Amino acid sequence: MENFSVWRDEVSGPSFPSLSGELEADVVIVGGGITGITAAYLLSIAGKSVVVLEALGVGQSSTGYSTGNLYATVGGEGLHSISMKFNEARLTEVVQSRAAAVDLIEEIIAVNGIECDFKRVPWSLFTVEGQRKSFVDKERTAAAAAGLTVLSEVPYTWPVADGFTVPNQAQFNPLKYVVSLANKIESPTCRIFEHSRVTKVEEGDVCVVETEAGRVRASNIIMATHTPKGLYMVHTSMGPYREYAVAALAKGSYPESGTYWEMQESEHYSIRTYDSPKGRIIMVLGEMHKVGQKEENLECYEKLEAFLRKRFDVGEVVYKWSAQQYKPADSIPYIGLSSGNSKTYIATGFAADGLTYGTLAAMIISDAILIKPNPWSKTYEASRITPLASASNFLKENVNVAYELVKDLLTTDADSFKEVRTYEGKIMELEGSKYAVHRDGEGELHIVIAICPHMGCVVHWNTAEQSWDCPCHGSRFSKDGEVLEGPAINPLKKVSAAGKQ
Ligand code: FES
Repeated sequence: MENFSVWRDEVSGPSFPSLSGELEADVVIVGGGITGITAAYLLSIAGKSVVVLEALGVGQSSTGYSTGNLYATVGGEGLHSISMKFNEARLTEVVQSRAAAVDLIEEIIAVNGIECDFKRVPWSLFTVEGQRKSFVDKERTAAAAAGLTVLSEVPYTWPVADGFTVPNQAQFNPLKYVVSLANKIESPTCRIFEHSRVTKVEEGDVCVVETEAGRVRASNIIMATHTPKGLYMVHTSMGPYREYAVAALAKGSYPESGTYWEMQESEHYSIRTYDSPKGRIIMVLGEMHKVGQKEENLECYEKLEAFLRKRFDVGEVVYKWSAQQYKPADSIPYIGLSSGNSKTYIATGFAADGLTYGTLAAMIISDAILIKPNPWSKTYEASRITPLASASNFLKENVNVAYELVKDLLTTDADSFKEVRTYEGKIMELEGSKYAVHRDGEGELHIVIAICPHMGCVVHWNTAEQSWDCPCHGSRFSKDGEVLEGPAINPLKKVSAAGKQ
């Protein structure tokens, strides 16, 4: 089965043009996901002229591969880690700001008459088999300390060993939401362009953002691209991770609508139901690993399917997909100007909580551009330095980057093209240079330079998605080198495979 998210099965379009020629605007937004389209909405209703440049289609990148879950809590290291790294006041700010973002989504839906299956549902964190009880306990305490309502019941289909529920969180179809919002806001002063990949960014008194066929001049840039494009200090403060999702048709009993996080030994599985075009499904997300650092990644899908079949009576697997996330070193995203005197706003480090944080980022950044006070801008300041709170993750991620860089420069996977089998990708050294070699289903070779143009790491083959992934900061490329996602602006250089077998 081709990797395809449930949201993409239900939504096609919109079809905005690609940029050609030169435009001027107050703000140019790079990225047409939930962050970019929400920022475009907030700025345009406040009277600013906006241009959105989306490399693919609106919502077709991270937003279209998300969970559709909205909550005031956080995943990853959890609420209690924010409290430990900072303090309870900071934790409360994070929870309150995230709750405000969910409220804004609900308001935007109501004001604009958007149909996207939004509903308020409970969010639960629990363990069935007793793993990581202390994590569950710390999260319960932190949630209550942050002012959330904490209930002891968990409406799951299995009895739980320990857990709690926070009511009044939400779910929606994220792609329907973003695509509908984009259609509503498009106007002569809020122009949206698809298939308009940014090739160059120049900051100055007037900022210039270029695509292959056009350019936009603007006073400010918003990098709403999940991780900013180009070279930014913040890349060294984040770890890029991939996570997988499997959805199967529901046959028997299934949990009531809600977001269910079941703690496993070393991670959590996120479970929810949805009425898809193929029928009611149960989906589970999990099996996270660092980008480009898991060779046998097809097993991630197998493990998730095995979990679904163990927990629920399910039929055929009808959707599976994977998605990327960037974990911030101190557990709090980076939102705001990239540095003190910059004209570029960044919004990154959302970990697995991007729909809510993306909306919050749009609120904070649009307020900054509109010179309006925002109660949370300091909490998320993108140029902050938090050595104590960041130290352990900063060291872990950067030691890992250095290790990958050195290891990969010294090793290869194959000595001859014959060793590269169908659907495989291998790194080879030819005449002193490293090449990434893939053989497609028809037996044709595809060869690109193996050095990531972002900062020089060697890419790795991703079997599940048939892509070249960079283990350092998460850039991903197609088999022919085109940028799929991540901070790289330029593609992997293509090399002729003529005469090679
Ligand atoms: Fe930074 Fe590849 S993404 S070196």
